[in-house]
Amino acid sequence: MISDNLIMQIKSKINIEDMISKYAVLKRDGKNNKCICLFHSEKTPSMVVYSDTQSFYCFGCAVGGDIFSFTMKVENLGYIEAVKYLCEIGGIAFDISDRDNQEIETKNTIKNINIDTARFFYNNLKSADGKKAKKYLLNRGFSLNIIKKYGIGYALNSWSSLLDYLKFNKYKLFDMYQAGVIAKSQKGRYYDQFRDRIIFPIIDIRGNIIAFGGRVLDDSKPKYLNSSDTIIFKKSKNLFSMNFAKKHIDRSIILVEGYVDAISLYQHGFKNVVATLGTSLTSEQSRLISRYAKNVILAYDSDKAGEIASLKASNLLSEVGLDVNIIDLKDCKDPDEYITKYGSDRFSIVINNSQNITDFEIYKLKKSIDIDTDQGVSNYIKQAIILLSKIKNPIERDVYILRISRDTNISKDIITSQVNKVIKSDVFKKKKHQYRELTNLTKFNTDNFIRGNDNFLREIKAEQGIIAFIFKNTNNLKDVLSNITIDDFILDIDKKILSSICSLSEKDESMDFSILSKNFSEKEKEYFASILVKFDIISNKKEEIYDYIDILVKHKQRMTTEDIINMDPDKLRDFYINLKEKSI
Ligand code: GTP
Ligand code: MN
Repeated sequence: MISDNLIMQIKSKINIEDMISKYAVLKRDGKNNKCICLFHSEKTPSMVVYSDTQSFYCFGCAVGGDIFSFTMKVENLGYIEAVKYLCEIGGIAFDISDRDNQEIETKNTIKNINIDTARFFYNNLKSADGKKAKKYLLNRGFSLNIIKKYGIGYALNSWSSLLDYLKFNKYKLFDMYQAGVIAKSQKGRYYDQFRDRIIFPIIDIRGNIIAFGGRVLDDSKPKYLNSSDTIIFKKSKNLFSMNFAKKHIDRSIILVEGYVDAISLYQHGFKNVVATLGTSLTSEQSRLISRYAKNVILAYDSDKAGEIASLKASNLLSEVGLDVNIIDLKDCKDPDEYITKYGSDRFSIVINNSQNITDFEIYKLKKSIDIDTDQGVSNYIKQAIILLSKIKNPIERDVYILRISRDTNISKDIITSQVNKVIKSDVFKKKKHQYRELTNLTKFNTDNFIRGNDNFLREIKAEQGIIAFIFKNTNNLKDVLSNITIDDFILDIDKKILSSICSLSEKDESMDFSILSKNFSEKEKEYFASILVKFDIISNKKEEIYDYIDILVKHKQRMTTEDIINMDPDKLRDFYINLKEKSI
């Protein structure tokens, strides 16, 4: 158990503003601060950081909580790990009991299994059984140096060589299975997950080996087998080679599709390269990139799939404020093939000639449409107008409009007016969307908490208001409780919060978000943050609290015979006992 004392120590050393400003630029907004949300893509800030409650809440994606929730989310850590991490930052001794050490211990065991596994695979390359794998790598142009640098290895053609090795090293079967390097058959038999494959260890930005990708040595299928997500590995949040690239990023980062592409570019001196992990780019990965770079050079495969993926990736990347350029690999299918065939100097030229997204799209559009026919021109212009409407900078937009006008012999004014029309309707759509988001928002995901109580929204609002009020004005707690009891609340979560407030105040401790919600789930914490925020906006004065109390009292009295008949037995008993106590 993490002690309250430790929590308070952390909070007195590090306030939430300091922590969040390590990741985002905070701007003052009244008594609070605002920033671009770190948990969803947006351009205008909707994450608010509340000084008085030391909590945060994003109006764009309804993520919220305290400094611990923030750390967990932004650093992808468990609760205990987040506490540990904050202790490190604050220079505070971290001391917890065994039970809570377990989470960290399991993760450590898995990390160690991964280290030993990587070592085992790497050593296989030197063995007689690994000869063909080594030959394969050398044939593909990998140097011994780069093989060592990336820890590339080979999984033997065997069902149990790794299993035996890990057993010999005293690991438990279940831990190996949790690490994802050992698989389990339906009959419950354990076996090596990777067999007869080249192995690429996947390493996170802190240098932990978190997963593996395995490639066949021939044309068999599947070509790649990648680790599934584990408790230490989330595909969507990591990028291959980021651990190396982060040291070599000036402004730009090169983003490729495959491990081989990344390693090959690195070997040729383009060290600022990362690869996605066998899935399309996610917004989490984009944000990870934006922590290190300003500009992304997309070097995806040159096939149709790669082109579509490039456009998608480029949208995600621009959403987090990154500039995006796309390279043209000419006759080569991927960056590895290009650099192996033509060398670094020519690849540099390709990078220098990379086009911004608009140029790239117009270039592709032109290639796909025959503008010598009237139908072609009309098609071309229609699609070009949509492309141009996405350009933010009006001068830049004008330049492209002029160019399209020349291409098609259609007057610049007509194109301009069409582009403006699209922009207008986009702005309208966006506004509508934002409005919907905001209104959905205060509802947050309370749906899960409210389920089954939809008829009592008024009462629920009242009890939430009461909670938000007494959390900030604890001296009114007695007053409130002389009118209603916890059982008068409708929602279990609200009861839970109120009872935490009561027990904290009995212990004479100050109301602190983190201590109060110590035993809450992350969802429950978010709920709590969301109601604090909601009532921060709609104001929460003492007079209103009496209205809220009134609503709850009336609700109790409004119980009709029918309500009572329909009550489930447990509730009925409580109701009866309650009634009896009141009448004594
Ligand atoms: P080489 O063929 O060795 O040059 O690799 P490549 O990087 O050119 O492969 P490709 O472009 O086909 O794939 C790019 C990335 O997609 C790989 O690094 C893998 O992460 C992923 N990938 C490719 N094929 C498969 C597959 O069959 N299964 C899975 N899960 N992922 C794959
Ligand atoms: Mn390739």
